[in-house]
Amino acid sequence: MRQKIVAGNWKMNNDLSQTEALLTKLKKATKTSDSEVVVAPSFTNLWHAFEALRLSDIEVAAQNMHYAEKGAFTGEVSAKMLRSIGVGTVILGHSERRAYFNETDALLAKKVDAALNENMRVIFCFGEELKDRQAGNQENIVASQIKNALFHLKSSQWKHIILAYEPVWAIGTGETASPEQAQDMHAFIRSLLRDNYSDALADNTSILYGGSVKPDNAKEIFSKPDVDGGLIGGASLNAKDFFAIVNAF
Ligand code: 13P
Repeated sequence: MRQKIVAGNWKMNNDLSQTEALLTKLKKATKTSDSEVVVAPSFTNLWHAFEALRLSDIEVAAQNMHYAEKGAFTGEVSAKMLRSIGVGTVILGHSERRAYFNETDALLAKKVDAALNENMRVIFCFGEELKDRQAGNQENIVASQIKNALFHLKSSQWKHIILAYEPVWAIGTGETASPEQAQDMHAFIRSLLRDNYSDALADNTSILYGGSVKPDNAKEIFSKPDVDGGLIGGASLNAKDFFAIVNAF
Protein backbone atom coordinates (compact mmCIF):
# COMPACT_ATOMS: atom_id res chain seq x y z
CA MET A 1 0.00 0.00 0.00
CA ARG A 2 1.38 3.38 -0.87
CA GLN A 3 1.46 6.17 1.67
CA LYS A 4 -1.12 8.95 1.50
CA ILE A 5 0.54 12.30 2.09
CA VAL A 6 -0.65 15.87 2.43
CA ALA A 7 2.21 18.38 2.39
CA GLY A 8 2.03 22.13 2.92
CA ASN A 9 4.48 24.21 0.94
CA TRP A 10 4.58 27.53 2.74
CA LYS A 11 6.79 29.09 0.05
CA MET A 12 8.27 32.48 1.10
CA ASN A 13 5.59 33.17 3.69
CA ASN A 14 5.58 33.46 7.50
CA ASP A 15 8.24 35.14 9.62
CA LEU A 16 9.19 33.63 12.98
CA SER A 17 6.17 34.84 14.97
CA GLN A 18 3.75 33.88 12.20
CA THR A 19 5.43 30.48 12.02
CA GLU A 20 5.04 30.03 15.79
CA ALA A 21 1.36 30.95 15.60
CA LEU A 22 0.68 28.53 12.73
CA LEU A 23 2.65 25.69 14.38
CA THR A 24 0.65 26.13 17.60
CA LYS A 25 -2.59 25.74 15.65
CA LEU A 26 -1.29 22.78 13.65
CA LYS A 27 -0.27 20.96 16.84
CA LYS A 28 -3.81 21.32 18.16
CA ALA A 29 -5.49 20.13 14.97
CA THR A 30 -7.16 16.74 14.93
CA LYS A 31 -6.26 14.28 12.22
CA THR A 32 -9.01 11.87 11.25
CA SER A 33 -7.36 10.46 8.15
CA ASP A 34 -4.43 8.06 7.83
CA SER A 35 -2.44 10.42 5.63
CA GLU A 36 1.02 11.58 6.61
CA VAL A 37 1.23 15.34 7.18
CA VAL A 38 4.25 17.39 6.13
CA VAL A 39 4.93 21.12 6.37
CA ALA A 40 7.69 23.00 4.56
CA PRO A 41 8.57 26.37 6.17
CA SER A 42 11.36 28.62 4.87
CA PHE A 43 14.97 27.87 5.82
CA THR A 44 15.04 30.41 8.66
CA ASN A 45 12.16 28.67 10.44
CA LEU A 46 13.07 25.03 9.80
CA TRP A 47 14.91 24.42 13.04
CA HIS A 48 12.19 26.06 15.06
CA ALA A 49 9.47 24.07 13.25
CA PHE A 50 11.36 20.83 13.74
CA GLU A 51 11.70 21.46 17.48
CA ALA A 52 8.08 22.56 17.86
CA LEU A 53 6.73 19.51 16.01
CA ARG A 54 9.13 16.98 17.54
CA LEU A 55 6.42 15.29 19.61
CA SER A 56 3.71 15.57 16.96
CA ASP A 57 3.30 13.33 13.95
CA ILE A 58 3.80 16.21 11.52
CA GLU A 59 6.98 15.97 9.46
CA VAL A 60 9.09 18.97 8.48
CA ALA A 61 10.48 19.42 4.97
CA ALA A 62 12.76 21.96 3.31
CA GLN A 63 11.68 23.72 0.13
CA ASN A 64 15.04 23.48 -1.64
CA MET A 65 18.72 22.63 -1.17
CA HIS A 66 22.03 22.72 -3.04
CA TYR A 67 23.58 19.62 -4.60
CA ALA A 68 27.06 20.13 -3.17
CA GLU A 69 28.01 18.75 0.21
CA LYS A 70 29.67 22.03 1.23
CA GLY A 71 31.85 24.79 -0.16
CA ALA A 72 31.88 28.21 -1.76
CA PHE A 73 28.21 28.53 -2.71
CA THR A 74 27.18 31.75 -0.97
CA GLY A 75 23.60 31.74 0.17
CA GLU A 76 23.03 28.02 -0.32
CA VAL A 77 22.11 25.20 2.07
CA SER A 78 23.28 21.58 1.78
CA ALA A 79 21.53 18.28 2.45
CA LYS A 80 23.98 17.65 5.29
CA MET A 81 22.97 20.91 6.97
CA LEU A 82 19.30 20.00 6.71
CA ARG A 83 20.00 16.55 8.06
CA SER A 84 21.95 18.03 10.96
CA ILE A 85 18.81 19.81 12.24
CA GLY A 86 16.66 16.72 11.80
CA VAL A 87 15.01 17.59 8.49
CA GLY A 88 14.58 14.40 6.47
CA THR A 89 12.49 15.54 3.50
CA VAL A 90 13.11 18.12 0.78
CA ILE A 91 10.92 19.51 -2.00
CA LEU A 92 12.85 19.64 -5.28
CA GLY A 93 11.91 20.81 -8.77
CA HIS A 94 9.07 23.14 -7.86
CA SER A 95 7.94 25.08 -10.93
CA GLU A 96 8.79 28.35 -9.17
CA ARG A 97 12.40 27.14 -8.76
CA ARG A 98 12.44 26.08 -12.41
CA ALA A 99 10.92 29.34 -13.66
CA TYR A 100 12.56 31.99 -11.43
CA PHE A 101 15.87 30.31 -10.56
CA ASN A 102 16.55 28.52 -13.84
CA GLU A 103 16.61 25.05 -12.32
CA THR A 104 16.98 22.50 -15.11
CA ASP A 105 16.33 18.77 -15.19
CA ALA A 106 20.10 18.17 -15.17
CA LEU A 107 20.59 20.32 -12.05
CA LEU A 108 17.63 18.62 -10.37
CA ALA A 109 19.11 15.18 -11.07
CA LYS A 110 22.19 16.28 -9.12
CA LYS A 111 20.08 17.63 -6.26
CA VAL A 112 18.07 14.39 -6.10
CA ASP A 113 21.30 12.37 -5.88
CA ALA A 114 22.64 14.65 -3.14
CA ALA A 115 19.45 14.30 -1.10
CA LEU A 116 19.38 10.52 -1.45
CA ASN A 117 23.05 10.33 -0.48
CA GLU A 118 22.07 11.90 2.83
CA ASN A 119 19.15 9.48 3.21
CA MET A 120 16.63 12.23 2.68
CA ARG A 121 13.22 11.80 1.11
CA VAL A 122 12.49 13.87 -1.97
CA ILE A 123 9.14 15.36 -2.95
CA PHE A 124 9.86 15.81 -6.63
CA CYS A 125 7.67 18.36 -8.45
CA PHE A 126 7.00 18.65 -12.16
CA GLY A 127 4.17 19.74 -14.43
CA GLU A 128 3.33 21.31 -17.74
CA GLU A 129 2.64 24.96 -18.55
CA LEU A 130 -0.65 26.16 -19.99
CA LYS A 131 0.75 26.36 -23.53
CA ASP A 132 1.83 22.70 -23.31
CA ARG A 133 -1.64 21.60 -22.26
CA GLN A 134 -3.30 23.72 -24.91
CA ALA A 135 -1.07 22.00 -27.48
CA GLY A 136 -1.97 18.58 -26.03
CA ASN A 137 1.69 18.09 -25.12
CA GLN A 138 1.35 17.65 -21.36
CA GLU A 139 2.28 13.97 -21.23
CA ASN A 140 5.47 14.47 -23.25
CA ILE A 141 6.57 17.35 -21.01
CA VAL A 142 5.88 15.47 -17.79
CA ALA A 143 7.54 12.30 -19.08
CA SER A 144 10.71 14.17 -20.03
CA GLN A 145 10.86 16.02 -16.68
CA ILE A 146 10.60 12.73 -14.79
CA LYS A 147 12.95 10.77 -17.05
CA ASN A 148 15.66 13.42 -17.10
CA ALA A 149 15.79 13.94 -13.35
CA LEU A 150 14.88 10.52 -11.95
CA PHE A 151 15.29 7.62 -14.36
CA HIS A 152 18.98 7.21 -13.56
CA LEU A 153 17.93 6.03 -10.09
CA LYS A 154 18.04 2.38 -9.07
CA SER A 155 14.74 0.74 -8.13
CA SER A 156 15.84 0.54 -4.51
CA GLN A 157 16.21 4.34 -4.34
CA TRP A 158 12.61 4.99 -5.33
CA LYS A 159 11.30 4.27 -1.86
CA HIS A 160 12.66 7.73 -0.97
CA ILE A 161 10.91 9.48 -3.88
CA ILE A 162 7.46 11.07 -3.68
CA LEU A 163 6.18 12.52 -6.96
CA ALA A 164 4.13 15.72 -7.07
CA TYR A 165 2.30 16.59 -10.28
CA GLU A 166 1.73 20.34 -10.27
CA PRO A 167 0.40 21.76 -13.53
CA VAL A 168 1.88 25.26 -13.65
CA TRP A 169 -1.41 26.78 -14.84
CA ALA A 170 -3.14 25.59 -11.66
CA ILE A 171 -0.63 26.95 -9.13
CA GLY A 172 -1.89 29.94 -7.19
CA THR A 173 -4.43 30.69 -9.90
CA GLY A 174 -7.55 29.28 -8.27
CA GLU A 175 -7.88 27.10 -11.35
CA THR A 176 -7.58 23.44 -10.38
CA ALA A 177 -7.04 20.56 -12.74
CA SER A 178 -10.32 18.68 -12.81
CA PRO A 179 -10.26 15.43 -10.84
CA GLU A 180 -10.34 13.62 -14.20
CA GLN A 181 -7.37 15.60 -15.55
CA ALA A 182 -5.41 14.82 -12.38
CA GLN A 183 -6.36 11.15 -12.50
CA ASP A 184 -5.43 10.84 -16.21
CA MET A 185 -1.99 12.34 -15.62
CA HIS A 186 -1.35 10.32 -12.46
CA ALA A 187 -2.30 7.10 -14.26
CA PHE A 188 0.04 8.07 -17.11
CA ILE A 189 2.89 8.69 -14.64
CA ARG A 190 2.28 5.35 -12.97
CA SER A 191 2.37 3.63 -16.37
CA LEU A 192 5.76 5.28 -17.01
CA LEU A 193 7.06 3.79 -13.77
CA ARG A 194 5.56 0.41 -14.67
CA ASP A 195 7.20 0.42 -18.11
CA ASN A 196 10.62 1.64 -16.95
CA TYR A 197 10.85 -0.15 -13.61
CA SER A 198 8.26 -2.61 -12.32
CA ASP A 199 4.65 -3.11 -11.27
CA ALA A 200 5.69 -3.12 -7.62
CA LEU A 201 7.58 0.16 -7.90
CA ALA A 202 4.71 1.81 -9.79
CA ASP A 203 2.18 0.59 -7.24
CA ASN A 204 4.24 1.72 -4.25
CA THR A 205 5.21 5.24 -5.35
CA SER A 206 3.02 8.02 -3.94
CA ILE A 207 1.94 10.60 -6.51
CA LEU A 208 0.59 13.86 -5.06
CA TYR A 209 -1.43 16.50 -6.90
CA GLY A 210 -0.72 20.20 -6.38
CA GLY A 211 -2.40 23.32 -7.74
CA SER A 212 -5.19 25.28 -6.01
CA VAL A 213 -6.24 22.40 -3.75
CA LYS A 214 -8.74 23.81 -1.22
CA PRO A 215 -11.04 22.34 1.44
CA ASP A 216 -13.93 22.36 -1.02
CA ASN A 217 -12.25 20.46 -3.85
CA ALA A 218 -9.83 18.17 -2.00
CA LYS A 219 -12.24 15.29 -1.41
CA GLU A 220 -13.09 14.88 -5.07
CA ILE A 221 -9.46 15.06 -6.18
CA PHE A 222 -8.31 12.64 -3.47
CA SER A 223 -11.08 10.19 -4.39
CA LYS A 224 -9.28 9.36 -7.64
CA PRO A 225 -7.47 6.02 -7.50
CA ASP A 226 -4.04 7.28 -8.60
CA VAL A 227 -4.04 10.45 -6.50
CA ASP A 228 -2.23 9.70 -3.25
CA GLY A 229 -2.41 13.12 -1.68
CA GLY A 230 -1.68 16.76 -2.25
CA LEU A 231 1.01 19.41 -2.21
CA ILE A 232 -0.78 22.46 -0.90
CA GLY A 233 0.35 26.07 -1.28
CA GLY A 234 -1.99 28.90 -0.26
CA ALA A 235 -4.42 26.80 1.77
CA SER A 236 -1.58 25.35 3.89
CA LEU A 237 -1.03 28.78 5.49
CA ASN A 238 -4.31 28.43 7.36
CA ALA A 239 -4.38 25.59 9.91
CA LYS A 240 -8.13 25.06 9.64
CA ASP A 241 -8.09 24.86 5.85
CA PHE A 242 -4.98 22.71 5.79
CA PHE A 243 -6.43 20.16 8.19
CA ALA A 244 -9.73 20.18 6.33
CA ILE A 245 -7.67 19.06 3.33
CA VAL A 246 -5.68 16.52 5.38
CA ASN A 247 -8.96 15.07 6.64
CA ALA A 248 -10.54 15.01 3.18
CA PHE A 249 -9.19 11.50 2.57
P1 13P B 1 -1.40 26.62 -4.49
O1 13P B 1 -2.05 25.56 -3.65
O2 13P B 1 -1.32 27.95 -3.82
O3 13P B 1 -1.99 26.67 -5.87
O4 13P B 1 0.15 26.17 -4.68
C1 13P B 1 0.43 24.88 -5.08
C2 13P B 1 1.89 24.68 -4.96
O5 13P B 1 2.66 25.28 -5.67
C3 13P B 1 2.39 23.76 -3.92
O6 13P B 1 3.75 23.49 -4.08
